[in-house]
Order: sequence, then structure tokens, then C-alpha cells
Amino acid sequence: MKPIKVGLLGMGTVGSGTFNVLKRNQEEIQRRAGRGIEITMVADLDVARAQALVGEGVQVVGDARAVIANPEIDIVIELIGGYGIAKALVMEAIAAGKHVVTANKALLAVHGTEIFAAAQAKGVMVAFEAAVAGGIPIIKALREGLTANSIQWVAGIINGTTNFILSEMRDKGLDFGVVLKEAQRLGYAEADPTFDIEGVDAAHKVTLMSAIAFGIPVQFDKAYVEGITKLGAADIKYAEQLGYRIKLLGITKRTAQGIELRVHPSLVPTQRLIANVEGAMNAVMVQGDAVGTTLYYGKGAGSEPTASAVIADLVDITRLHTADPLNRVPHLAFQPGAMSNLAV
Ligand code: HSE
Repeated sequence: MKPIKVGLLGMGTVGSGTFNVLKRNQEEIQRRAGRGIEITMVADLDVARAQALVGEGVQVVGDARAVIANPEIDIVIELIGGYGIAKALVMEAIAAGKHVVTANKALLAVHGTEIFAAAQAKGVMVAFEAAVAGGIPIIKALREGLTANSIQWVAGIINGTTNFILSEMRDKGLDFGVVLKEAQRLGYAEADPTFDIEGVDAAHKVTLMSAIAFGIPVQFDKAYVEGITKLGAADIKYAEQLGYRIKLLGITKRTAQGIELRVHPSLVPTQRLIANVEGAMNAVMVQGDAVGTTLYYGKGAGSEPTASAVIADLVDITRLHTADPLNRVPHLAFQPGAMSNLAV
């Protein structure tokens, strides 16, 4: 069978990681997918730089719409980010009958209902494992591994930048601003770090987990959002003396009144595993009625950890295109609204 053809929009940190991992692990990935997966076209504003990264065998263009217009492309990976042009391109790719893989949590948390409805109407998939907690396969865990459960709550450290800042402030007694600059230098922070430090990035991610865990529409506007900018070194020190670590948690919970959705600094007893998640690492806890408490830990950002999640989605979509029914993964399509009577 011919390889499935993929177009990649945005050859930044995650884009180059995706290209490199796909190439490096090509044989194993092909075996698991049942078919080869090839990035045959890349769009990036800096064509020369992108061409140097992918080599001569891949067509690089400056206009992302040329990728969407290419009838040979089956899957479009959107790694541009933000709500503006990224939204237009995702909607156009869906309208053109392409499956979409995206790491864009902001786009899906705010416009997910419209995007998922368009994808369902067109019979294509919008896969977004990379949008939440980077390399941790938490979307698959919620959607597939825990599918038997009535989920009671999900709580996690889902922003590496703020966890790095809180860890460094505590361990090294450094000021907030100094550590933020270091997080930006290391590539953890969003282009606009306000989204990280004000809790918005974590709120985008917990909104998506909430929609999957509880079958509700994506409702970012209903989330309570509080970041870490008001925390000082003294707060962290006093918490420590009382036996707690301050962590920015994203929490979504089933209650008698509806679904809670919130992000705020929380006091976590130091003996808890999640209190000891340090630096830019992420961790998500999920409580299900059958399974009890589960914990997922790993890198929530970075080139290859995020690429790992992007490629997992490429493999899932490719499996649906193979003739072998045993390779099929039936739970991929987003199913919003199954419990939409539950208000956030
Ligand atoms: N800015 C995000 C973080 C990147 O710090 O976790 C990954 O979404």
C-alpha cells in the first residue's frame, strides 16, 4: 500500500521534532500504522530555513493554502498556533476533506465546538493528543483506556512553565522574572508568556480534558482562571513550612451542581506524588469509579515529546485507512454533547 501523505503547517520546534522522529523511527511506525506515513509538503514563512531542515525530497512552500489545495495530502498537521490564521486553515483543511492533527489547545478550547462539528459533518477527524500535556498520552487515556469509567475528577500540573517557575523559586530562591526568562530561553513558555503565568494555557488544556472526561462541549469561557503572578517567595516558603507545595493545578470535577472547571494555585501536601513533580514536567491524575486514582507523568512540552503525541495521532488516523480491520481504532472521532445537559 502506498504511504499516506501528510502536509505540515509550521516548521518550528514541534514541526522539526515531528519530521525527525518520523524519519528516525520510520520502520517501526510503518509496522504499527500498517502503512508508511510521509510528510511530503511543508509550509513555513521561512522557506529557506524549512527546506534546509527537511532536505530536498520534501516540497516547501510559503503559502499554507497550497498544502490544503494539494489533492494528494490526506492529513494536515497544524503547528502554527493561535486563533487567527490557524483557525481559518483548520476549517479550510476540514472543508477540503483532510484529517487534521493539531497541538493548538488555544484554538480548540475556544473554537472546538465549531471545529469538531465541521469535522463530524465532513467525516474527517481532528486529533489533538499533543494539545494537552505534550508527550503524556492523556487524551488517549481518557478516551480509550478509561472509557469504562464514570470519571469523577481530573486534576493536573499541565503547564510546564509555571511548574518550572515555582520549582526554581523554591529551590534556588530566585525571583519570578529571572526564572520566567529562563523558561522562555528553554522553550517552555508560549509566544506570549501571559498565557502561561496567568493560567490561561492550563485552562485551555483542562477545558479539553473536561470535554472528553464528561462528554460536555468545550467551554473555556466558563473556566475560573487564576495564575501564579500574585505569588511571592514568602508564600512558597510558608507553604513549605506547613508541609505543602504550591502547584498550579487544572481541575475539572463532577459535582451535584454540574461540572467544575478551574485553574488556580493549590496547596498540595508534600507527601503526595504530584507535589513532587518538579521543573517543567507535567502530571495528570484521573479518578474513575471503576479504576480508582490513576497518575500520568512526563514531559509536557518540547520538540520530540510533543512530536511523540503528534505522530501517535498520525498513526491512529492512518490505521483507519488501512485494509486490516484489526488495526482499527474506533474511538477517535470527537463525540461532543453526549452529556451536554451537565452545565459547567
Ligand atoms: N507553554 C506550555 C507549557 C507549552 O509551559 O506547558 C506546552 O503546552
